Amino acid sequence: MRAPIEAIAWNDEYVRILDQTRLPAEEVYLECRTLEDIAGAIKRLSVRGAPAIGIAAAMGFAFLAGRISTANHEEFAAQAASISSHLLATRPTAVNLRWALDRMSRIAGQADSITVPELQELLKQEAQRIHAEDIEINRTMGRHGQALLPDDAVVMTVCNTGSLATGGHGTALGVVRSAVENCKQVFVAACETRPLLQGARLTAWELLHDGIPFELITDSMAAVYMKNRRVDAVIAGADRVAANGDAANKIGTYSLAVLARAHSIPFYIAAPLSTIDMTTASGKDIPIEERAPEEITTIAGRRIAPEGTGVWNPAFDVVPAGLINGLITEKGVIRAPYTENIAAAFK
Ligand code: MRU
Repeated sequence: MRAPIEAIAWNDEYVRILDQTRLPAEEVYLECRTLEDIAGAIKRLSVRGAPAIGIAAAMGFAFLAGRISTANHEEFAAQAASISSHLLATRPTAVNLRWALDRMSRIAGQADSITVPELQELLKQEAQRIHAEDIEINRTMGRHGQALLPDDAVVMTVCNTGSLATGGHGTALGVVRSAVENCKQVFVAACETRPLLQGARLTAWELLHDGIPFELITDSMAAVYMKNRRVDAVIAGADRVAANGDAANKIGTYSLAVLARAHSIPFYIAAPLSTIDMTTASGKDIPIEERAPEEITTIAGRRIAPEGTGVWNPAFDVVPAGLINGLITEKGVIRAPYTENIAAAFK
């Protein structure tokens, strides 16, 4: 396999983000220097995928907090809180965003026994730790998840859950990568993932990059693919898992879970504990981001529906826990009953 893709990085001058809206046609890196640059990159989906959003927000927070010029702790904490709330408002469903910003804010609000420059240094280290931990966690999840696959496996995926969506390696795609590293023959059936085509544009790009065999299908082909060809498992990521195991992920994931159950195919969610929100009791409490109508009425900037067409564009749906055969986490594969077993994983 080739060297891993580095979607987010930073230096003293800027936070560097691979602009995923322009893939696969162009590999362009954004140099984000302001709060608007970073928040805009997250909102526009230049950086996307729940863990990657959390990492970008943490890096952005550390970078911008490093530019606050005051020695006064209260003033520092107030400006840091404003950065955090601005970033938090960018995408409502991916709970990793709140999780990462909470970690950063706890440090920013520390008592004044240390100086502001020391706090700024601690924030940098925390953002680096969040990034490094995510890669490590993905690898651990990958090890647990790959054990669920036969030696010769066909895995159906949705959206993009690879290096681009995380600190590196990936969640659902990380399981595929780990299986390949473990010498399993894995073939991926990648759903294109309308409206923004993360499957066609990003998953296909990553799989080609790694030399993992795959074929691309439209979302509406999933049912007949399951019926007429072979699928050993459907593995998806998640943007937020509720305490009862209901899991929000890219729109279309619920359809795949229903179809998988109808065809007796196991359906798994691969997500780190940072994606599990113990303060959200069930899927009906997960806020679902609704996005601009143009994402549906146009493709690559070209209008496909007539002017005046009404649109509903929820970016995510919720898979009820009852359709999930297991949550692949860094603590192992969590099975039903989810409420009890998820709580146990946090102990
Ligand atoms: O709107 P996106 O592209 O950010 O949606 C991403 C997904 O739905 C992923 O499946 C999810 O974040 C988990 S990936 C690590």
